[in-house]
Formats: sequence, structure tokens, C-alpha cells
Amino acid sequence: MAELRIDKYLSVALSVSRTEAKTLLKKGKITVDSKVVSKPETKVSDTAVVKCGDQELTYKKYIYILMNKPEGILSASTDKRVKTVVDILPENLKRAGLFPVGRLDKNTTGLLIITDDGDFGHKVTSPKSLIEKRYLAGLDGEVKEEYIEVFKNGITLADGSECMSAGLEILPNNYAIVTIREGKYHQIKRMFGVVGLGVNSLKRLSIGKMQLPTTLKEGEVKELNVSELQQIFE
Ligand code: URA
Repeated sequence: MAELRIDKYLSVALSVSRTEAKTLLKKGKITVDSKVVSKPETKVSDTAVVKCGDQELTYKKYIYILMNKPEGILSASTDKRVKTVVDILPENLKRAGLFPVGRLDKNTTGLLIITDDGDFGHKVTSPKSLIEKRYLAGLDGEVKEEYIEVFKNGITLADGSECMSAGLEILPNNYAIVTIREGKYHQIKRMFGVVGLGVNSLKRLSIGKMQLPTTLKEGEVKELNVSELQQIFE
């Protein structure tokens, strides 16, 4: 970080809205290098000591947000017509440059990470990463035992592209858990398409060892710290 506006700095460091940050500035609560600062447009550098009252603040360079993505929301930063996962973030977590790490289809739900750390995003989505992603799929017919071997051997999709070996765990009532190590376009729907099954519902449960918390409802988010993020690469 070189320099940024103090109101922006405060909204990130204190997880408050810009309006709340401006109120703190107006009240004379904020000092930069021991001098009271009241104008929201004042620029502050990353080496400055910023305090709110007696509390010294730290600015997080990047933010990492875990979302339980709801249905009907687009995995993108912006869109002219449809609401995106960035649009539905709480105001105090919004920053410039946020993007979803990998894409879930519009009607897919579950674990999605949103960040402004491009290197991290690249590390997770790179085809070389081979990180396991687990999905719960609801199918429109019976998931037969023989499909386990078909998924394990690597499915060839209708367009001829080859999938890597995938895990298939059969659950009651036409549900299954699928584990893949890559992220081709509509991959799971297309894999089931090859064995003649349609996907009625799809939810991502985990990325690496990072699980979707069972308490997090659709549309809810949780900020992740760096050690929680490491679970992805374990
Ligand atoms: N595979 C799909 O078909 N859709 C998703 O959203 C994710 C994986």
C-alpha cells in the first residue's frame, strides 16, 4: 500500500462504514502520527501510526471472505443485469478489487471465497494446484454403483475434453458427493450428463480442508484469517 484516504483506511481497519469513519474523524478521535486528523480525504501512508483514541490500528493489506453463496447470484465482481456475490457483501467488507476465487454456476450454492488478493486467487484456481473440491449433488435419477468406477477412471465430456479421476460417493434419495481436482466449465453437470443424469441441485461443501461451516446460512459471510486460509492448501 502506498497512500490511501483516511476514511477508507478506517473503514477497513475498524470494519465500519465510511459514514461511521467520517463521524469518528469529525469527533476528533483519530490521530495520524500523534496529530488529530478530521478531514476524510486526508491521505495516510502504510508506515503512519494511526490511532482511534488509545487503540493503535492495523490495516489489512488483503481481505478474505468465505460466503455461503445463495442461488440466483452471479459469481462475478460486477454485472449490468444480475446481482453478483460482491454486490451482496455487507458494506463493511466491501473494497475495490474484490472478486470470487473460481466460479460457481448461478444456481449452485455453497462455499465461495471472495478476496482482493490476486496472487492467492491464482494459486487456488491454477490447474496445477490440484486442490480437492467437494460438492453435494442432487440428481434426477438413480446414481448407480458402476458410475463410481466411471468417475474414477476419468470421464470424457461430450466435447471430447478429458476429466481427471474424480470421487463419487452415493447417498440415499438420488444424492451424491463428488470430489474433483480441477474446474472445467459446468464440470459436474457435464460429468453427470455423460452417465445420463441431470443435476437438480449443487452445493460446494469444501475446498481442500476448508469446509463450509454448517451454521452459515445462504448469503451469510465470514471473514477468514490467514491461518484459516491455509486449510485450503493442507
Ligand atoms: N460444476 C458445475 O457444474 N457447476 C458448478 O457450479 C461447479 C462445478
